[in-house]
Amino acid sequence: MIMKKLLSVLTVAALLAACAKPQPQDFQVIPQPADVTLADGSFCVKGAAVCFDENMDEASVKAARRFVDALETATGAKCKQADGGIAFIQNPNLAAEQYAINVTPEGVTVEASALNGFVYACETLKQMLPPAVYGNKAVKADWVLPCVSILDQPRFDYRGMHLDPCRHFWTVEETKQYLDVMTAYKLNRFHWHLTEDQGWRMEIKRFPKLTEIGAWRNGTVIGKDWSSNDGIRYGGFYTQEEMKEIVSYAAERGITVIPEIDLPGHMVAALAAYPELGCTGGPYEVWTRWGVAKDILCAGNDQIFDFLEGVLTEMMEIFPSEYIHIGGDECFGGDAEPDRPDPWDVCPKCARRMKQLGIKKGPEAKHYLQNYVTSRVQKFLNDHGRKVIGWDEILEGDLTPGATIMSWRGVKGGIKAAQKGFDAVMTPTDYMYFDYFQSRERDKEPLCIGGYLPLEKVYSYEPFDGMEAGTENHILGVQANLWTEYITTADHLWYMLLPRLCALSEIQWCAAENKDYERFKASLEHSLAMFDAMGLNYCLDYKGLIGYDRQPARSQEELEEYLKTAKHSW
Ligand code: ACM
Ligand code: ZN
Repeated sequence: MIMKKLLSVLTVAALLAACAKPQPQDFQVIPQPADVTLADGSFCVKGAAVCFDENMDEASVKAARRFVDALETATGAKCKQADGGIAFIQNPNLAAEQYAINVTPEGVTVEASALNGFVYACETLKQMLPPAVYGNKAVKADWVLPCVSILDQPRFDYRGMHLDPCRHFWTVEETKQYLDVMTAYKLNRFHWHLTEDQGWRMEIKRFPKLTEIGAWRNGTVIGKDWSSNDGIRYGGFYTQEEMKEIVSYAAERGITVIPEIDLPGHMVAALAAYPELGCTGGPYEVWTRWGVAKDILCAGNDQIFDFLEGVLTEMMEIFPSEYIHIGGDECFGGDAEPDRPDPWDVCPKCARRMKQLGIKKGPEAKHYLQNYVTSRVQKFLNDHGRKVIGWDEILEGDLTPGATIMSWRGVKGGIKAAQKGFDAVMTPTDYMYFDYFQSRERDKEPLCIGGYLPLEKVYSYEPFDGMEAGTENHILGVQANLWTEYITTADHLWYMLLPRLCALSEIQWCAAENKDYERFKASLEHSLAMFDAMGLNYCLDYKGLIGYDRQPARSQEELEEYLKTAKHSW
């Protein structure tokens, strides 16, 4: 009898807990959705029925099923297909990236008009659940969603993250994990920097030596001593099949892959394979040091256009993106041979080309010659229905209309581009270079290129600051870049990326008035648990826990225990 009474007291207490009004501080979703109204009660998702609107397109159903699969794995319970649980509804009145969620004690509705909206709705739902939903095994937890109504959409159309697989190579599996993290934070552009002085990473069937020769270097700098070489052959490349696999994996998650061929500079690996494309004719070696090389494609040699058009033709077959990134950065003033003039200043073929084009001698001449290369490539891509995006150097001289600028040397490139009527993506080094240190205590951090970019500074970036009024519509969005000279392991890569990517996502997604660093920091607790569940490393400098060696923040036992316990009291 006493036992029965006790049980009923416990049941009432459990019910009260389940019905407690969720508190805003427990709603730890990043990026913070635009409109959130929390209500009393909750809905249990464990073993819930799910149904898909018959009007939903195949890709959206697949995305919703991925969410249901994650639920089934983490809860250990199957979700039958039936009415009355979680309903995915096609709502053509919503914008392509907008979604609406309504959770009541009776059920959940998830509405969107297209794939991206469904992907983002599912990601929001996942972040509202215990972090074990990001793991790969069944866990006992409080598998409930709080009653809430959400209507959400992004501030910017272009929400990018870049990765450099050239200085150090990332496998297809690691690249997919990178895309998973981007998906969790509702990013939609993956800028894949596939060519560099230190390695050419994309298979091009017309030019096999690009990967036979250009994908391999004879050693790498040891530590930060640029005059050293570890003598270990290093390299790798992606086959066309692998790149297509990445494109489709990303597309299923609403992410467009924008491939970059960096031209006419950062081309030493290609020159090593095809030396006739350089001003001197070589020989060249795939670069083993970091920095900016002197040798670039010869603008006076028509063969470079046959080469570039051949490469771009194959790139367009692999990558369906509207944009192809054509690089354009750091073509002049290479730092490795300070006494050597830039090849374009002394090359007879380049001189002849400048004369033909009527380019006057002087410090600006090389920029106009670069404009010539850019605009020929731009015309070729435009003729094939594509657009160019390039680093802000392409704006110098006289850029052909229709190109988009990626502003990296501060914000001024983006501001100037917008004033001149060009679109721009903001990725200024001061706020968006995730290869920079995260702490002032550099000796406790892993090897790093330099700089200082703590989480709070990333979060503080406002892309319209300094813009001339009326030109803001030219800012398509924001991207962070992750160059990998000193990043050699995936653990280190995640450490540089996380949680700065979370701050990036709020800049890209949230209206400026919805940003709040204190609320964001509190919400990060949930994200850290997500990273634990996903097996990803992260930096805790923002909490005063400095240094890579402190990772992982939770021991394996602590993690197992943490993932078992429900952290919410919806
Ligand atoms: C760059 O960081 N060189 C674009
Ligand atoms: Zn030349």
